[in-house]
Amino acid sequence: MEINDINKIILETKKYSRQMVPKDLHHGFEHCQRVRDYALLIAKTEKADSNILEIASYLHDIGRGHEKNQYHTKTSAELAKTFLTNLGLPAEPTQKIIHCIETHSRKLRHRKTPKSIEAKILYDADGLEMIGAVGLLRTALSAQVQGKDWNHVLKKARWRLKIKNDFLTLTGKKIAKTRQNLLVAFINQLMKELENKTCALEDNNFCSKTITK
Ligand SMILES: [Fe+2]
Ligand SMILES: [Fe+2]
Repeated sequence: MEINDINKIILETKKYSRQMVPKDLHHGFEHCQRVRDYALLIAKTEKADSNILEIASYLHDIGRGHEKNQYHTKTSAELAKTFLTNLGLPAEPTQKIIHCIETHSRKLRHRKTPKSIEAKILYDADGLEMIGAVGLLRTALSAQVQGKDWNHVLKKARWRLKIKNDFLTLTGKKIAKTRQNLLVAFINQLMKELENKTCALEDNNFCSKTITK
């Protein structure tokens, strides 16, 4: 494809993504943009196709909120296929993008495994959104949307601890490693505060600091 054509397709995809994804801070458009940024960063060192990744990143969660008794990965892939075919993207790149979308979810990895380098990168880029500072805040935001309590937040935060080693590319693993200290420290502190709520308030230093202010 001509460079102008692919740039036009990326621009249209970005617009479509903004229109389709949920209007929230958990899986909304800003999440897709950060996933795209991580994906392009990893693509540079892993020598992957950045056009495939940019389009797949924008489209990977468009099925959220539009699912009809099926997983969001499947709905996103179906919507993306129709959208890209209508835009005139040839079958081969479309299929590569669909493979990335279908396999990006950690929870559904048992169903479909990322095989191409681009699919592995999208998987890692989406994973980085789960284990940084933003990722930890997204846990609470998601609980709020679902009307859940703090125990649920803690459970989800602990699950994020499990996935800290679940990265498929060398670059993804390296970036994930830089976030592990924050993740472990934050979850430890969260557990302390939630499991022994009065501890901080009964701490004399804490009280005197608070009172003298
Ligand atoms: Fe997703
Ligand atoms: Fe996502």
